[in-house]
Amino acid sequence: MEYLEHLEHAGHEKPGRSNEAPVLIEFDHVSFGYEDEPVLDDVSFAIRQGQAVALTGPNGCGKSTALRLINGLLFAKSGEYRFDGQKVDAAAMKNQTFAKRLHQRIGFVFQNPDTQLFCPSVQEEIAFGPRQMGLSEEEVQRRVDDMLDMFDLRKLAKRAPYRLSGGEKHKVAIACVLSMNPDVIVLDEPTNGLDQKTQRLLTRTLHDLNFAGKTVVLSTHDHDLVMDLAARELRMRG
Ligand SMILES: Nc1ncnc2c1ncn2[C@@H]1O[C@H](COP(=O)(O)OP(=O)(O)OP(=O)(O)O)[C@@H](O)[C@H]1O
Ligand SMILES: [Mg+2]
Repeated sequence: MEYLEHLEHAGHEKPGRSNEAPVLIEFDHVSFGYEDEPVLDDVSFAIRQGQAVALTGPNGCGKSTALRLINGLLFAKSGEYRFDGQKVDAAAMKNQTFAKRLHQRIGFVFQNPDTQLFCPSVQEEIAFGPRQMGLSEEEVQRRVDDMLDMFDLRKLAKRAPYRLSGGEKHKVAIACVLSMNPDVIVLDEPTNGLDQKTQRLLTRTLHDLNFAGKTVVLSTHDHDLVMDLAARELRMRG
């Protein structure tokens, strides 16, 4: 990606909230490449608390890469990424308290859910995050139940995640992230592979979470999703 344009949809900003809220995610002249070839080249943008932001652009332009940087899985080669005012780099992420806090505040649903499912059953998978957060077993169970109902996963609760269909895995991965109630929800192509009903459910859920004040950052090729969430679109060029 060479540069990124800010395209605000007319009438889509939420006055009185997004424009005044503090900046949570800030890319300050960030460059990154996996090898010699640059993927992100001098990229700057800021996302405020409570905004819904969609990264769009052609295959290979760097959307997933930008989301991995936001989640502290990759680091800027030059420039700086700050989350809530704090620089996120390899040194910062070596500090376990900092890394744990970042991963608690930012929930990340990967483009390929296989990379994030590892527990012996769906219910264990959803319980894992809330348990890691030290919540009571009663609260863990409440959150698992909420997610099983919300995503219609009740009949799959005891199934091993690797024995699910692609769309079912994707639903579980989203449920896992939402069960931790993060401040920022980052989703890489969230509607990919989901049926119409589940897409509508997900869109409504993200809309409601955003309306309740959560920051939502996603990458997508689904223009309807961008419109339905009234998301600010950051378009990346290939
Ligand atoms: N692990 C990797 N090692 C080397 N190059 C990579 C790696 N992951 C991605 N790339 C390259 O980096 C560029 C950006 O990839 P990225 O996955 O961020 O694109 P994307 O915008 O998410 O694309 P898509 O719409 O297909 O999901 C591509 O040219 C890709 O080939
Ligand atoms: Mg991608």
